[in-house]
Amino acid sequence: MSDNQENQNQSEGDNTKPNMVGKYEYEVLSEDYTNFDLSFKIIVIGDSGVGKSCLTNNAIKNTFNDAYNATVGFEFFTFNIKLNDKVIKLQIWDTCGQELYRSLITNFYRNTSLAIIVYAINVKDTFEDIEMWLRELRAHSSPDAKVFLIGNKVDLENEREVKKEEAEAYGKQNNVDLFMEASAKTGINAQLVFIKAAQILYDNYNLYQDKKINEKPDLETEGEGDNYNQKLKANADQNDKKGCC
Ligand code: GTP
Repeated sequence: MSDNQENQNQSEGDNTKPNMVGKYEYEVLSEDYTNFDLSFKIIVIGDSGVGKSCLTNNAIKNTFNDAYNATVGFEFFTFNIKLNDKVIKLQIWDTCGQELYRSLITNFYRNTSLAIIVYAINVKDTFEDIEMWLRELRAHSSPDAKVFLIGNKVDLENEREVKKEEAEAYGKQNNVDLFMEASAKTGINAQLVFIKAAQILYDNYNLYQDKKINEKPDLETEGEGDNYNQKLKANADQNDKKGCC
């Protein structure tokens, strides 16, 4: 599947077919849409200057700023999307990449459903630092947290220092849930990153709900079954409206 195959209908301007992501029909809603069925917390991390703020701004506000304004601490965004008949609200914490604030942002890792780790395809060091970001994430977040690896600034192809195949292989080795290249400047795949985030988190939520319904306590290991169901419930509840963030 190509990176942006799933929103092809939209990019081709074909309004007669519904936009699809995975098995869901989707519609991106306005940033200030107030009702929602499910809410998930997402953090955006990565080295300073890789384009975390620009990528998030492009996806949500459809804007791009050539000037560099370093994020201080964090910036908060919401991305609302309807998947079939459910409204999903993504609460997005765009963090600063500067080393000075690194200990501060580990506080944001708690209760994160998904981390988007960004590097710039034209600066090898930012890719090499992914290992450090993954380590930080795994030390401070739940082991269930999903991880996306995003190579930004793909418009700077002639300055490329990180091969797509290399990053893709690295992502596979490290069990990331999605690898994609994007450009906050041209908008390529910027919004798709967040659409895919909503899809994967909703899939995961449904999986837990199905397990909760189908799981029958085994009489011989009733204690274990109870514990397992409690764990599933805790995981699912963590992601629902009341308990997620
Ligand atoms: P910190 O806040 O320091 O962590 O940086 P950041 O990762 O949020 O980077 P930011 O979004 O502020 O972008 C840094 C610089 O890169 C700015 O000058 C942007 O204009 C530029 N930039 C961001 N994304 C792209 C992109 O996709 N292509 C190009 N060519 N430039 C980009």
